Amino acid sequence: MIDLGVNVDHVATIRQARMTYEPDPVTAAGIADLGGADIITIHLREDRRHIQDRDLELLSGTIFTKLNLEMATSQEIVEIALKAKPNQITLVPEKREEITTEGGLSVTSHKRLLTDLVKKFKDNNIYVSLFIDPDKEQIIASSEVGAQSIELHTGSYANAETKEQSARLLDVLKEGVRIAQDVGLGVNAGHGLTYKNTGPIVEQLDIEEIHIGHSIISRAVFVGIECAVREMKELIYKHYMIKQNL
Ligand code: PXP
Repeated sequence: MIDLGVNVDHVATIRQARMTYEPDPVTAAGIADLGGADIITIHLREDRRHIQDRDLELLSGTIFTKLNLEMATSQEIVEIALKAKPNQITLVPEKREEITTEGGLSVTSHKRLLTDLVKKFKDNNIYVSLFIDPDKEQIIASSEVGAQSIELHTGSYANAETKEQSARLLDVLKEGVRIAQDVGLGVNAGHGLTYKNTGPIVEQLDIEEIHIGHSIISRAVFVGIECAVREMKELIYKHYMIKQNL
């Protein structure tokens, strides 16, 4: 099966809109766990626009499935991550002016820095994934810097405007998975995935984890977090069974 990572940043975004204590992303993570989330993901951004240091500290001590910390390569965040010891980190590029993570990480242009960082995390028993575009050079560079996994950026696929475009971008992702597996990387996928466009990803990509935030939390506003997570788990299961011809 494919594991589902649920990103609870948006719960913290609502809390920060009023600079108050509710809704609490830590509670959200517990309820997502009840709904069947295999992984809880948070992004501790340098500007702390949603997740706060306190959230990471509490989640590190209370998530017994798997905690995946998305983070940039800044020294401050690296030190916090090494102390918090999440199960996995996913390195992402970060720009202050962006609404959400835009492109993938350029591994080719930061090879030295990434090699050192990946080693540091691995030495501390933290599994390292790199969020990258489905680009051959970036995939090969990810393996060269020692990462264990990559998360392929599915944003372009998610934003496709026609069926033809979507099929073509799915093929690009498929080729990305093939190249990554050839060089021994684990492969995850995420960004922009919804209840409508996740099915083909499950059926056609040989991946280990799917990471979804916005769509699940949006549905949770109406049906609750537990139900929204369970519905996505069921959708993944259904398409996984189709893939296996079961
Ligand atoms: N994966 C990564 C690396 C991300 O940065 C994000 C956004 O926080 C996601 C997945 C989830 O994206 P979305 O909120 O569009 O589902």
